[in-house]
Amino acid sequence: MVVAVDGPAAAGKGTLARRLAAELGLPHLDTGLLYRATGRRVLDAGGDPRDPAIAEAAARALLPADLARGDLRGPEADAASSAVAAIPAVRAALLDWQREFGRRHGAVLDGRDIGTVVFPDAPVKLFVTASAEERARRRFRELQARGVAADPAQVLAELQARDAQDSRRAVAPLVPAADAVVLDTSDLDADAAFAAALRVVRARF
Ligand code: C5P
Repeated sequence: MVVAVDGPAAAGKGTLARRLAAELGLPHLDTGLLYRATGRRVLDAGGDPRDPAIAEAAARALLPADLARGDLRGPEADAASSAVAAIPAVRAALLDWQREFGRRHGAVLDGRDIGTVVFPDAPVKLFVTASAEERARRRFRELQARGVAADPAQVLAELQARDAQDSRRAVAPLVPAADAVVLDTSDLDADAAFAAALRVVRARF
């Protein structure tokens, strides 16, 4: 059993996927971490995340411990993850890893291309979205809660830049799968979004 949860940055898909996994007794994989850890490795080596050869080598050298690093979030890591994610060889290097994870025991995976590329046959596909303004508000509040100084206008601008890069790239762009259920969480809190997602899952199983 594979549940695919896709959507743009800060739409609440991570929280939703984690709760669904706990409810269904399945492992959860935040696939964004793979791209974040790849981008981090490139930055640490002083490389350019847009360089295909360097980024592919970083993706192939990824270790499970890299995913547990504490410095995978923040503007620099956000931008680097989106840059390496646009490189086809990086996506190819991370594909088997994700499929293995899902096939082993079933899983809830969240990302951008789970329902379209990684598990096109997943029996449940959710596309979780919200308006850019609402997502920027959530991201801003999250940064504030972590004590990180941020400017709301800049948070919105960075989010929109990443949306554009993720949506316009040639390989595995961010689009809902044809058979995905779109869940707009603009007017839903986390509990209401979870209840709606669970209804979709229960209708399929
Ligand atoms: O979901 P998160 O914001 O952590 O993802 C970080 C970046 O990784 C995204 O901006 C996107 O470019 C990339 N990504 C992707 N495919 C996935 C998951 C994430 O391209 N399945």
